[in-house]
Amino acid sequence: MLSKKTKALFFSSLLLSSAFFSQAHNVSEGYQKPTDPLVVQNLENWQDLKFGLFMHWGTYSQWGIVESWSLCPEDESWTQRKPEHGKSYYEYVKNYENLQTTFNPVQFNPEKWAEAAKKAGMKYVVFTTKHHDGFAMFDTQQSDYKITSSKTPFSKNPKADVTKEIFNTFRNSGFKIGAYFSKPDWHSNDYWWSYFPPKDRNVNYDPKKYPERWNSFKNFTFNQLNEITSNYGKIDILWLDGGWVRPFNTIDPNVEWQRTINVEQDIDMDKIGTMVRKNQPGIIVVDRTVPGKWENYVTPEQAVPEKPLSIPWESCITMGDSFSYVPNDNYKSSQKIIETLIKIIARGGNYLMNIAPGPNGDYDPIVYERLKEISAWMDKNQSAVFATRSISPYHDGSFYYTKSKDGKTINIFHLDEKVNYLAPSTLNFIIPENFKPKSLKVLGLSHKIDWKQNGNSIEINLRKERNQLKYSTVIQITQ
Ligand code: GLC
Repeated sequence: MLSKKTKALFFSSLLLSSAFFSQAHNVSEGYQKPTDPLVVQNLENWQDLKFGLFMHWGTYSQWGIVESWSLCPEDESWTQRKPEHGKSYYEYVKNYENLQTTFNPVQFNPEKWAEAAKKAGMKYVVFTTKHHDGFAMFDTQQSDYKITSSKTPFSKNPKADVTKEIFNTFRNSGFKIGAYFSKPDWHSNDYWWSYFPPKDRNVNYDPKKYPERWNSFKNFTFNQLNEITSNYGKIDILWLDGGWVRPFNTIDPNVEWQRTINVEQDIDMDKIGTMVRKNQPGIIVVDRTVPGKWENYVTPEQAVPEKPLSIPWESCITMGDSFSYVPNDNYKSSQKIIETLIKIIARGGNYLMNIAPGPNGDYDPIVYERLKEISAWMDKNQSAVFATRSISPYHDGSFYYTKSKDGKTINIFHLDEKVNYLAPSTLNFIIPENFKPKSLKVLGLSHKIDWKQNGNSIEINLRKERNQLKYSTVIQITQ
């Protein structure tokens, strides 16, 4: 359970100014440890994976705008509608929904993505099967607002059910599979009922006053999740977004965006969770920001917690600035990505890095360059990354630590965040008390390293070869 203080600390370390600030408070208090042994085991295994790929992709990619949010009447700087996309709100919505009729990402080739991501060390994928705009990127029978509808040009393509293609391809390449799904659906007439104008992100009528309509929305959601967990092979994670769809009594008044919810939006997570676990025994469910039985791990967004957490967690962070494709996005450097990965794993978390496919169905070329650079680092250093756990100290100055699960090996990562990394010729660092080093190596260097121990501190000397170390020096010590 996270104390209020821990929660406050969490967000003092925002990595970048998130475009989604009002969404940023995505760590809930009151973690409930799952009791199903299969879920417990899957969570443990998932914590070994460390590095995952998140993908936000939908018809909105054609306009190169923030996913879905411009449909939301809330007047936030990051939800602004461009005048050329419609003169009035209603014209805008019509044009946005019409994007379905031009979506034709013919370069879609998930093998290319899986290959590049796998080499870069990514071990799981989470894909937006449906975002808040309600456009299904899978073949749902519950709505025609979907990629496989005859209204969508891509429906003629043999790979039209992109969710199926992505899940099968990545699964065959050894990835674990996560389905992102938005509980709120701004296309559904049972969520934003056309009788009223939408007011904000929430349901636009009172579900208590119109129980039949809400019930119909509950069934629709249940049925879509049943389709996803029945028709798409093995799914390992169900990642449910849109935490404002939640029982009224779970609202945390300390969280700004939750204070705006003024209606009951109980979607019956027990019924949904029981169904998805029947379809997919042991599936990890992340009912994001709704603490309890169905939030099996927590999901800080665009942020790294200040300290290790005692519960399973994952930071979702964009590779560019945006979760969705925007032209000329500002992609982070490979060094920055590696630094972030190291800070996350030293605190015991997973890094879910978002890459947004464009409207043509492919990533920007620069993404492949980055993934290639990350692969080269992974080739040398992966033994210090995967299946590791946090250790005390997890961090000391510019050194970050992980340990192997059996505790016999510790890994020490040296970073220099201010400049392009160049390893110094001498490094001095502490090791945990009671750790008795027997052998030491610097990953990626072939020569024997000179090292001396003095109490719990170690000094190593690197030769000229240190010029070969990119982004970090990784020292692996075994006792
Ligand atoms: C933010 C965005 C949402 C996105 C999510 C991913 O909450 O508002 O659109 O899907 O981040 O974590």
